[in-house]
Amino acid sequence: MPDSRQYHNVALIGFMGAGKSTVATLVAGMLRFQVVDTDRVIEERAGRRISEIFAADGEAAFRQREVELVAELEGARARVIATGGGLPVNPQNLASLRKHSFIVCLWASPETIYQRVRTQGHRPLLQTPDPLARIREMLAQRAPVYREADLLVGVDFRAPLETARTIVSGFRHARSHAVSHADA
Ligand code: S3P
Repeated sequence: MPDSRQYHNVALIGFMGAGKSTVATLVAGMLRFQVVDTDRVIEERAGRRISEIFAADGEAAFRQREVELVAELEGARARVIATGGGLPVNPQNLASLRKHSFIVCLWASPETIYQRVRTQGHRPLLQTPDPLARIREMLAQRAPVYREADLLVGVDFRAPLETARTIVSGFRHARSHAVSHADA
């Protein structure tokens, strides 16, 4: 059945350490799209690292920057948008992405995430004595949001290239079933 969504872009959502930035680059290469990495754009505009924004201005200020950037992206075309792990938690952001993007969640288990992020000190939300417990807790809270993606790809046992290929075929399939732009 045709659907009336518009799939101009691919948006990647999912927890920290799931590999969104790496996979975004691969998907963009395959589709000849450009990557927009929301964390990187926010850092470039602020001239500071995310950890510094959290420390100096607080999480709410960072979330506000995310909302503003997502609103700007409504005009985006041919982009692979790699989002920060908490960005889709705000329903306004997810609804906005849904207007123009095929939304893919990269799903990793808490153990995989922990293995990937434990040597990286730059994630402000994981600066706690028991990061694995924190990851489990946050993942459980966010699971209902991540499940709203159009496609959920488990990355525990998939290499980034295979994940990227899965996304590209899902995107092409969705596009071919959407009402064509001329009809929309
Ligand atoms: C966050 C994830 C981070 C970054 C910020 C908050 C989160 O992005 O946006 O530290 O709330 O999960 P990555 O998912 O790219 O690490």
